[in-house]
Amino acid sequence: MTTAELIQKNKDYTLTSWSAQGAWNPIAIERGEGVYVYDTNGKRYLDWSSQLVNMNIGHSHPYVVRAIQEQVARLCYVDPSNATEPRGRLGELLAEVTPGDLSKSFFTNAGTEATENAMKIARLYTGRQKILTRQRSYHGATFAAMTAGGDPRRLANEPGVPWIVRIPDPFSYRSPIYRDRTAEEGDAIVAELVEETILMEGPENCAAIMLEGYSGTSGVMQPSSVFWSRIEQICRKYDMLLIVDEVMSGFGRTGEWFGIDHYPDVKPDIMCMAKGLTSGYVPLGATVVSDKIAEFFNDHTLWAGLTYSAHALACAAGVATIEVYRNENLVENAREMGKVLRRGLMDLAEKHPVIGEIRGTGLLQLTELVRNRDTREPLSDFNKPMTEPMKRAAKMLKDNGVSTIVRWNMIFHAPPLIVSEAQLQEGLAVMDDVLTMLDDYYEG
Ligand SMILES: Cc1ncc(COP(=O)(O)O)c(C=O)c1O
Repeated sequence: MTTAELIQKNKDYTLTSWSAQGAWNPIAIERGEGVYVYDTNGKRYLDWSSQLVNMNIGHSHPYVVRAIQEQVARLCYVDPSNATEPRGRLGELLAEVTPGDLSKSFFTNAGTEATENAMKIARLYTGRQKILTRQRSYHGATFAAMTAGGDPRRLANEPGVPWIVRIPDPFSYRSPIYRDRTAEEGDAIVAELVEETILMEGPENCAAIMLEGYSGTSGVMQPSSVFWSRIEQICRKYDMLLIVDEVMSGFGRTGEWFGIDHYPDVKPDIMCMAKGLTSGYVPLGATVVSDKIAEFFNDHTLWAGLTYSAHALACAAGVATIEVYRNENLVENAREMGKVLRRGLMDLAEKHPVIGEIRGTGLLQLTELVRNRDTREPLSDFNKPMTEPMKRAAKMLKDNGVSTIVRWNMIFHAPPLIVSEAQLQEGLAVMDDVLTMLDDYYEG
């Protein structure tokens, strides 16, 4: 098949996500290796976003490929009422790497099913209905998960489920709450507003607060430990559960096993994961619950189920992936390379006024671009079609062999955890050129 035929068949016979179909202009990717993917013409792209912040161990890792091949030959699937070795081993590994007393996993196919089931479990456990989520967050695209996310992708599907309550955002760069206040002072006020929201909604109706362990696709807007410890106290005070969504921030992405590990005193009741769990090699998600919740379901039915829950092949991929994180010290590498990335981005911010703010940590970082640093006017508006400069930036990155996420006025920097310093410099050099072009649109 020629490249043109391949692309045409994709366009003629398949639908793509989050896009008018006529506007879809895909690159035909043939293979991936390490931090690079290659198109059918042999052009190499540096994977600067790990394909939706997913391929944490990079592409085609031989250890995981072999584990998958061996499992395929032995057993791909049995119905979830059966026990298998990969399922038991993966559950045990997750109990080891997750914080606190998270101990039992319900396996799903993806992140959205992990958050759906977390909300279902919280409602079954507490007997309450409402789940509180952040204005700026993303928890998946099935119906309840979509409502739960504050991300404007939900708007076209509204009204969604009626039991989601949104809380204000701890977003120090843009929320008016933070004007003339430190980030910690603002975070304390936002936490107070969360408590007020619960009182207004009736604590007896509120099952849980669900937050991304480290803010991701909505713009890497991470609050301080002040916010997290207040939120945990509020959950305990009103007998609510704390659900932490680590679908994007889990498995070393931020330089810790999980985003929430940056706050060692905070103990989630439920954790959602996917993506890095198998590094995208086979679709798999999990909802991991604490001892007390696991115990509750010893004599209460867990009203949840999926044909593909605990898929043997996916679980074997998960086991092998976690072994890779451990054997190759990838969490530590993400932490160290994250410092190199941050230094490089800070240097770029000194040179290019168009950078308004750099946010994030480890290998989950982002630059927010502005027309003016004083007014903070975004280079492209939140939830509006991308402006000319941002379209040019996205094209320039692609033309120069860097594949990443460009959203509104944000460019994401999230390469695989195996990335080297030299590869980071390669990406930063392309960013430098892109920012030079964008500086022309700066109105300072
Ligand atoms: C924090 C978070 N939760 C949930 C999801 C949904 O995961 P999936 O697309 O695998 O359903 C995502 C996807 O990006 C995510 O970032």
